[in-house]
Amino acid sequence: MRDKRDNPVSYPHRPAVDALDQAFDLLHAYQADPLVAVDAVIAEHPGFAMAHAFRAGLLATATDRAFEPELIRSVVAAEALAPQANDRERGHIAAVRAWLDGDWERATEAWGRVSMACPRDLLALQFAHLGDFYLGSSCMLRDRVGRVLPRWDRGVPGYGFVLGMHAFGLEEAGEYARAEARGLEAVALNPQDAWAVHAVTHVMEMEGRPQEGVNFLARSADDWAPTSLFAFHLWWHQALFYLDAGDADAALALFDTQIGAGGFGQALELIDGSALLWRLFLLGHDVGDRWLELREKWLTRVDDACYAFNDANAMMAFVGAADGEAQARLLAAVRRAASGTGSNAMMSREIGVPACEGFAAFGRGDHAGAIDRLLPLRAKANRFGGSHAQRDVLSWTLTEAAIRLGDRSLAEAFVAERQVWKPLSPVNSAWATRASALH
Ligand SMILES: [Fe+2]
Repeated sequence: MRDKRDNPVSYPHRPAVDALDQAFDLLHAYQADPLVAVDAVIAEHPGFAMAHAFRAGLLATATDRAFEPELIRSVVAAEALAPQANDRERGHIAAVRAWLDGDWERATEAWGRVSMACPRDLLALQFAHLGDFYLGSSCMLRDRVGRVLPRWDRGVPGYGFVLGMHAFGLEEAGEYARAEARGLEAVALNPQDAWAVHAVTHVMEMEGRPQEGVNFLARSADDWAPTSLFAFHLWWHQALFYLDAGDADAALALFDTQIGAGGFGQALELIDGSALLWRLFLLGHDVGDRWLELREKWLTRVDDACYAFNDANAMMAFVGAADGEAQARLLAAVRRAASGTGSNAMMSREIGVPACEGFAAFGRGDHAGAIDRLLPLRAKANRFGGSHAQRDVLSWTLTEAAIRLGDRSLAEAFVAERQVWKPLSPVNSAWATRASALH
């Protein structure tokens, strides 16, 4: 039995294999809802190992402790079926087990090995790509896709998704012109491909082209937005473009109508909510009582410490809401995680703890303390994953802290660094003016 990309499948039932292919395609395009689709397959075919491994991968890469009981269930079900599975499927099962055990590097490499053995296993490539994203491996976001590209062409279903991933990898590796061309090629093949749209968006963000970014997302939204699982994040990017164009009101309106449209029900949405309000907060905008909703939702995860990147964003909300007790509780959880083992222990130790301490210090008005904790992270913050655009919040915070501290040389250095990237940004110009007015 073979799937639609000619990968070997052990489960001897054609309609089940085709239905699982359709569920994969929903994930490839980040369209709703691959979990519903795979659950329907499993309901009819509980002995389909690859379906359980897929479900586990979906849940694992949501980086949300709330999904852990279901993740465990899927990993256990997949492992029970492993003796009947083929090598490719056992590779997927090994990957989700490694992720569940907290070793994201091993999980990502396991998916990566599957992807090299079966270069048209788009699912293995995508899960490895997501692993590289959470591990902040910029070069592997590009090169892991590069390894299999020669084995793809327009005749293979899903070719555009490979181009979209390659575009994002090129962007994170700083190859903006190639990234934009490749991303637009993927969008042309499939305008619903939110990851390809995202790659082009990132290029415009990194190159400081906010008006083009606003237009690009507005123009393409009818294609990707209606059933996208990823829409909140693209709207977050749109809000960043508005901020960079000096329109904070438009950014706040997007927070209310689009970024929070899902009620901040999952960690990925909360991250974007925090990351936008924090930028507005740094610039001195009144965000009303919006922090309170985020604080409430983050509080349900305050002891989770399942991913340091999430914790840093939770800290922003607790600082924004001036909740000292939640800040202390979160910091205790992140410090506990830092003393453990696995990928998140490393991330918490290296980045999570100092980042949380730095944001908390900023909230207390201890700007020197915030700079002491955050400055060393600029060189290594990729270790807790996310994109350059997301981690740019460290540069934002350092710049504002230096200005509030009244340290002109530091402030001018931080602003100068930003203006190399975005010389026309009104946000950067305002910082430059304030920095040069310091004594
Ligand atoms: Fe992004």
